[in-house]
Amino acid sequence: MREEIKRFIDQMEEGSVAIIPAAHEKTRSYDTEFKFRQDSDFWYLTGFPEPDAIAVITKGAKKPYTLYVRPRDPLMETWFGRRQGVEGAVKNFGVDKAHSVEKFGADLGKILAGHEKLYYRFAVDTELDQKILQYLNEQRVRRLKTAYPPHTIIDPTPIIGEMRLHKSEREVGLMQKAADIAAEAHVLAMKKVKPGMNEGQVEALMEAFMKDKGASGVAYNSIIGGGDNATILHYVENNMPLKDGDLILIDAGAEYQGYASDITRTFPVNGKFTPAQREVYDVVLDVQLKCIDFTVVGNTHQQRQDYSIELLTEGMKQLGLLKGKTKDLIKKKAYLKYYMHGVGHWLGLDVHDAGRYFVDQQAKQSRPYAPGMALTVEPGLYIPPDDRSAPAKYRGIGVRIEDDVIVTETGNINLTAGVTKDPDEIEALMQKSARK
Ligand code: GLY
Ligand code: MN
Ligand code: MN
Repeated sequence: MREEIKRFIDQMEEGSVAIIPAAHEKTRSYDTEFKFRQDSDFWYLTGFPEPDAIAVITKGAKKPYTLYVRPRDPLMETWFGRRQGVEGAVKNFGVDKAHSVEKFGADLGKILAGHEKLYYRFAVDTELDQKILQYLNEQRVRRLKTAYPPHTIIDPTPIIGEMRLHKSEREVGLMQKAADIAAEAHVLAMKKVKPGMNEGQVEALMEAFMKDKGASGVAYNSIIGGGDNATILHYVENNMPLKDGDLILIDAGAEYQGYASDITRTFPVNGKFTPAQREVYDVVLDVQLKCIDFTVVGNTHQQRQDYSIELLTEGMKQLGLLKGKTKDLIKKKAYLKYYMHGVGHWLGLDVHDAGRYFVDQQAKQSRPYAPGMALTVEPGLYIPPDDRSAPAKYRGIGVRIEDDVIVTETGNINLTAGVTKDPDEIEALMQKSARK
């Protein structure tokens, strides 16, 4: 049995059963679907890649792990692709038992009967919600004469989220691979970008490269913003020509076996920073390096955010974007005009990964970092093009620098060190490349 399933069972309460569904295919338009992406919790626990499956995990049973899967079907497989089927699930995925998912409805009574507690996350899969609710209702109507259904329903997400938050060695290996592929794709972009190229062409060459290196694709929609498009945080249109004298901000990560990398680099389209661009860049880089050093055991997530705000507010003063005492500016949240996002987030199967940021949700006590946690470090400065209070030379400049780190016992490992962020090295790399 998979290690992840065993560890989940260890944390289930006595007398409980869990129902964890896979994702379904989603319509893109009319009768075409988006490329299938497995549900991250389901993928983490089962490693089973197909849609529509359901894992049933029964605490205390001799054979605790059953997978309901799409049955083999020659006609469906000819049209829509191969299936593992019941045999494949048993042979290749370490389950105790497998059945056709078509039997799930009929089996539900058997699955739930005699268990006081059910682990299930409502309001994700409405069709499955209805089956479970209908069963519970029927049993109540029968005044519990046929079967005794669970009376406590627990959302399993927090348990799985905590498991996902602490990366195993195997996971760190996969994340390093996702990071290496994306880092190399960013290096390629630095070598290829030149004035007159379209943002979409940069997106295309990076994605093609990632897939060529074994990634399933991008981990999220790439952000490729030339000039003041870099000041739009989630700019994903990626369809404008790149101009001589502008910066380009690229936020792009690869997905490898479900794991995300998340890298941002900002560099000059023509290979040479202007003095004004370099001034903003140097401020962000200095903050980013300090925040990486801060991402270590003991420091909390909120402390790191506050630290980034303090450093960037100082930087804004240095650039003449803000005036006043740092303490007052922070109190007034003056920095929000130029820095309006978090300095980073958990990273893993989801780019914004699972796990709580607070030790105690009520008290809002921020969580200290611990070994095995994966985080991004991504400070930025974004000066709106029409900001009349900013020195003219900085208007329309957007800079973000983002790396991915794993916290260790003694510090952290930068997974994305494979692509430089040193401005002199970026210029040297761009000038050395065959860009004409
Ligand atoms: N690419 C999404 C983020 O940086 O959080
Ligand atoms: Mn990013
Ligand atoms: Mn990020």
